[in-house]
Amino acid sequence: MKTAIEPFRIKTIEPIQFTTRLERERYLQEAGLNLFSLRAEDVIIDLLTDSGTSAMSAQAWAAMMQGDESYAGARSWYRFEAAVQDIFGFPYVIPTHQGRAAERLFANVLIKPGMVVPNNTHFDTTRANIEAVGGKAMDLPCPEASDLALEAPFKGDMDIAALERLISEVGAMQIPAIMLTVTNNSGGGQPVSMANIRAASKLAHLHGIPFYIDACRFAENAYFIKQREAGYEEMSVREIVREMFAYADGCLVSAKKDAFANIGGFLCTRDDRVAEQLRSLLILSEGFPTYGGLAGRDLDAIAVGLYECLDENYLNYRIHSTQHLVDKLHELDIPVIRPAGGHAAYIDARRFLPHIEPLQYPGQALAVELYLEAGVRGVEVGTVMFGRDVHTGIERPAKWDLLRLAIPRRVYTQSHIDYVIEAIAQVWQHRDRVRGLKIVSEPPYLRHFSAYFSFI
Ligand code: F0G
Repeated sequence: MKTAIEPFRIKTIEPIQFTTRLERERYLQEAGLNLFSLRAEDVIIDLLTDSGTSAMSAQAWAAMMQGDESYAGARSWYRFEAAVQDIFGFPYVIPTHQGRAAERLFANVLIKPGMVVPNNTHFDTTRANIEAVGGKAMDLPCPEASDLALEAPFKGDMDIAALERLISEVGAMQIPAIMLTVTNNSGGGQPVSMANIRAASKLAHLHGIPFYIDACRFAENAYFIKQREAGYEEMSVREIVREMFAYADGCLVSAKKDAFANIGGFLCTRDDRVAEQLRSLLILSEGFPTYGGLAGRDLDAIAVGLYECLDENYLNYRIHSTQHLVDKLHELDIPVIRPAGGHAAYIDARRFLPHIEPLQYPGQALAVELYLEAGVRGVEVGTVMFGRDVHTGIERPAKWDLLRLAIPRRVYTQSHIDYVIEAIAQVWQHRDRVRGLKIVSEPPYLRHFSAYFSFI
């Protein structure tokens, strides 16, 4: 059979509240044209993020009932630690309430002011946490990544030659860690090849630099390796994951993505000294090292989810459903990042709305229009998110202006996605009428979460 079906039946449902265009106009005005400020119940299809929004299985819910809420040494902790060690292979596991808490601990322990941290592409909170301790977050995506329409298998790769040049320019002592984000979220959800992971690791270790993987979407990345990289066709996703992390000194994980959890994260390392420092900081702000800001039941849900996301029938369905959205948009000539990434479709808003200058935020303008059209919420990844330099205060166009439509795991069916495709196709028909935006007010950091906009 060629049709990839949802590998589950639906047991519990959450009703969707429908809205009219007139109502949506009012909600948007009240939200300052910022989709983060909408009430979720006023959204029909919510593709703001795939983070914390996935549907847990009956098994994960059942495991939550087994949660041991003891302050120290809970059974839930030992089940969680065993699952993480088993899957990722690191000896030290630090639980955190979500990915960015792991990033903050990591930045505080490893980075001194003026140091440089390279990555294929930093996620926005990773960048912000590095910058908050005076570090410099450097993106070194591979050259193929800059051609949004180019069909290449591993556009999430890091530019290893550029990494080599960076090390010789700034010196290994100034680089506290080399990072690699799998899949490369800010770079279009594109996968990183095993060859690239191996090469980054080799170069890091040649210079005595620790190598850490930002691994929220590790299972989706592993599935792409199985599908696309020679030599991995016959390996199980489980084995591929083991190999990916065998090259690393540690990883930072938001369990809110591939692991289906509504909350949670962790940090792993092989370095006992680093683990000790991380734990001390953890106690200061997150919690005792056997719960790290999570309830015991959350730890149990993550332990189950980490195994479930390695199921290859699930991954096949997951990757197919993202591909369905991207392929249909492509067939309609709508400019979209190709090939499809794992967790989201990314529309090239600059090409969709060529009459809107980057400093009039075409990604945000498209996000606003799609919400007005059909109540679909996506997120801008572009000049609103990355355009303001926090050190100099100068605003410049970001490299790209994209609209990301992230797909929560196991939540929407194909007809929901077909509704989204129809909505985008309608906006495409009247794209000339979409207006640019200006920012009315913005905070000093991470402005995309709370800036207010108005139409130009
Ligand atoms: N790293 C990557 C690659 C991410 O995509 C995210 C979150 C984080 C770290 C931070 O994890 O949210 O648990 O604190 N990405 C979400 C998104 C928010 O919508 O892409 P967190």
